[in-house]
Amino acid sequence: MQIAIDGPSGAGKSTIAQAAARQLGWAYIDTGALYRAIGLAVMRAGVDTKNEAAVAACLPELTLDVRYHNGEQQVYLAGENVSEAIRTPEASLAASDVGKVPAVRDFLLQLQRDLAAAQPSILDGRDIGTVVLPNASVKIYLTATAEMRAQRRRNQLLEKGIDEPLEKVLQEVNARDHQDMNRAIAPLRQADDAIVLDTTHQSLDESIQSVVQIIMLNS
Ligand code: DC
Repeated sequence: MQIAIDGPSGAGKSTIAQAAARQLGWAYIDTGALYRAIGLAVMRAGVDTKNEAAVAACLPELTLDVRYHNGEQQVYLAGENVSEAIRTPEASLAASDVGKVPAVRDFLLQLQRDLAAAQPSILDGRDIGTVVLPNASVKIYLTATAEMRAQRRRNQLLEKGIDEPLEKVLQEVNARDHQDMNRAIAPLRQADDAIVLDTTHQSLDESIQSVVQIIMLNS
């Protein structure tokens, strides 16, 4: 059982996928964390994340491991648990940069397929239904308007005591959408056979229940 959930950043994919996986007793595989870990490794090596050849040259040196602690995915770089370190805004931008490099996508392709094959799982990302698991049991394209995604992101930042103007957050959301949707390789797009779920007018709980229902009805 392999479920693909794709969509733009800020649509709530990871929170929703994780909660749905918990309800179903399946594994949740966060593929963005793998791109973030490579972005972090490249930054730490002092390499420009926009320099594709230099990024590709970092890959042979990289030891990336994924382990599960109490069902939670943890990502390791050379034995160090970087699951927290990959959550900074810098690592997020670095992930988006390295995600444009074909060698990086090749490097992660088999790892993602192996993780999905090991157990019933829900994977979230940008190209799961289109590239990684074209034969996934169910494909969901999770989206919401850019304005709503920016509003949710702003609220998250406020909870951390960071007060950013909505226009600035919206600009960042639009910039990342543009980068993820317009890259040459494996751009974010809806798979032809994906079920679209627009969460603009849904609460988090409603979205989780919608996803669980879509999975149960279609698998
Ligand atoms: O989902 P996230 O915000 O953790 O993803 C970080 C970046 O990684 C995102 O900007 C695009 C890239 N990514 C990707 O290209 N393919 C995936 N399957 C997952 C993430």
